[in-house]
Amino acid sequence: MAETATLTYKDTTIELPVIEGSEQEKGLDISKLRGSTGLVTLDPGYKNTGATTSGITFLNGEQGILRYRGYPIEQLAENASFTEVSYLLLYGDLPNKEELAGFDRKLSMHTLVHEDIKNFFLAYPSKSHPMGQLISIVSSLSTFYPDSLDPNRSAEKVDLTMIRLLAKFPTIVSWIFKKNIGHPIVYPQNHLDFVSNFMHMTFGQRTEDVEIDAVIVDAVNKLLILHADHEQNCSTSTVKIVGSSHANLYASVSAGISALWGPLHGGANQAVLEMLENIRLDGGNTTKWLDKAKDKSDPFRLMGFGHRVYKNFDPRAIIIKKAADSVLEKLGVDDPVLEIAKKLEEAALNDDYFKSRKLFPNVDFYSGIIYRAIGFPVEMFTVMFALGRLPGWIAQWKEMLELKSPIGRPRQIYTGHNERNFVALNDR
Ligand code: CMC
Repeated sequence: MAETATLTYKDTTIELPVIEGSEQEKGLDISKLRGSTGLVTLDPGYKNTGATTSGITFLNGEQGILRYRGYPIEQLAENASFTEVSYLLLYGDLPNKEELAGFDRKLSMHTLVHEDIKNFFLAYPSKSHPMGQLISIVSSLSTFYPDSLDPNRSAEKVDLTMIRLLAKFPTIVSWIFKKNIGHPIVYPQNHLDFVSNFMHMTFGQRTEDVEIDAVIVDAVNKLLILHADHEQNCSTSTVKIVGSSHANLYASVSAGISALWGPLHGGANQAVLEMLENIRLDGGNTTKWLDKAKDKSDPFRLMGFGHRVYKNFDPRAIIIKKAADSVLEKLGVDDPVLEIAKKLEEAALNDDYFKSRKLFPNVDFYSGIIYRAIGFPVEMFTVMFALGRLPGWIAQWKEMLELKSPIGRPRQIYTGHNERNFVALNDR
């Protein structure tokens, strides 16, 4: 028999169904709560609220498990390509050879970005943040493709919109990078694989092919896979809330990029590097900075530490830490902030404040060190996170529409004034 939980409020007792997921996760279905009792639930930050059922990503924060469509992140990061993982997230299964070749071909047919987008760069102030540019360019794609805006149009149209966005995103990111350093943009070379093409547009030059080191391509591939999805996080939930009104995919993803920008979410990778650099310039005294992070009267937090769901370790951080070591070694880069990061990590892991709150390095603690070794300026780090997270946002948006989810519209408990009469300006 299906499990239920009993809730009694005043004279009313109701049975709330317990919903069980495929990994035995359990949740209380409270959809009948307000109708039966007049109550709503209050859960700031949605710390205990499941917004949806989902078949895309499984995460167990206590055991440090992360799987896309059932496949462990460790196996995907080690063996798969980013487009293979994107296919998996979007369509539910790993592609066979023909399916992957077809998917890659479709992506390579849509890599060009409308030439008019170059005009945007004439308008941005010279030091504007790449995330601000990315948000506006992605949202503006909707103005170039008015025929494919309706998410309820044919499945083919929706698929075309998804492919267009996935294919054009690396081109847009590389143009933002080039424009920010004042270099000419580089056009896609469609015989290259997705990551190599992106690296060619980002670090290559217009006139000649630049050989991108396979170690770098491999590291970027891994980083993108590790960021590709993370179930109902802040930016994904934003994409879905916006998409739940049936706004188009470009508008929904642009909103997700805005959510990602904050330092508590994807912006943490930039904040980590800036923090490590500050510690270095301050003489490398990690104890002083740990004390600051523990001091409740000081707004400083140890960036790259802590996670809403991981309470023992973040499996992505373990893979990235190893990758950081090997990338820096293979590239012959000796970055003093890597040593500071390791010292800080060790001190925090042995500190009662961090131990008792189960605060561990998250995915962003070491990713910036790799990006910096490759040659990305810090302002590009969160843009790289967005490039990785894109297939996850799209897959979750697609699933939301397939589940025919209702518009996202939370309730509240009002704590403001009771009704009062307007007072004319002269009498106030
Ligand atoms: N430094 C110092 N104290 C911390 C930190 C930190 N990085 N993170 C959490 N705490 C403390 C917090 O002050 C609170 O202490 P107390 O119980 O005494 O009030 C306790 O730990 C619980 O923290 P919380 O803010 O209630 O936890 P949360 O689940 O709301 O926040 C978080 C999670 C990731 C926003 C937070 O840990 C944080 O701000 N970390 C630093 C920013 C960061 O690295 N973000 C990237 C997250 S991973 C990438 C992604 O997927 O977004």
